[in-house]
Amino acid sequence: MNTVLLSKVKHDRKTFDCGIDSLNNYLKLTAGQSSKRDNARTFVLEDELNDSQITGFYTLTMTTLNLESLPTALQKKYAHSKSAGLIARLAVDKNYKGKGLGEWLLIDALKKLLLASDTVGFPLVLVDAKDGAKEFYQKYGFTSFIDTENRLFVTISDIRASFQ
Ligand SMILES: CC(C)(COP(=O)(O)OP(=O)(O)OC[C@H]1O[C@@H](n2cnc3c(N)ncnc32)[C@H](O)[C@@H]1OP(=O)(O)O)[C@@H](O)C(=O)NCCC(=O)NCCS
Repeated sequence: MNTVLLSKVKHDRKTFDCGIDSLNNYLKLTAGQSSKRDNARTFVLEDELNDSQITGFYTLTMTTLNLESLPTALQKKYAHSKSAGLIARLAVDKNYKGKGLGEWLLIDALKKLLLASDTVGFPLVLVDAKDGAKEFYQKYGFTSFIDTENRLFVTISDIRASFQ
């Protein structure tokens, strides 16, 4: 399995349905434009039998880091950090849920962010979990911010350790 960058020409964005309209609409209307402007990158996982069919996707970008929302020990450690990697969106089409693709996409996204951090240096990866998805991220080592229930983080150092 392999993710590829979203192609507006190749991929059928209209039929993708993860059950959350805002995520479906992002893929349909915004993801391509956002990548064209270098604001974010959307990677898709194609169906093995039909490469125009999107089974799942994620979007990566950078965001600002609010140090005060971190546990005290991490505030000190990352006192000079301003930026963090962001999994801005991640979703699996309804027809492909429950087959391990969400886990696979999350690991793939974290591998890409680890590589990016090895080059430009940032200490954390954040994610904004949609309703009901917080536990999904917690299962893979993400921790909630103190003041923002649905924003979670994991350190690059923990990601690196988990792949060693
Ligand atoms: C959340 C989502 C990405 C999971 O994708 P998926 O392919 O169904 O998940 P997987 O089959 O890879 O599941 C991996 C594990 O996570 C668990 N899991 C899946 N969805 C979960 C959820 N919403 N909450 C908690 N755990 C969840 C599974 O039970 C499984 O655990 P197990 O290995 O112990 O059996 C998918 O349901 C989805 O796209 N939801 C709508 C969009 C969304 O909420 N995105 C989240 C980011 S905004």
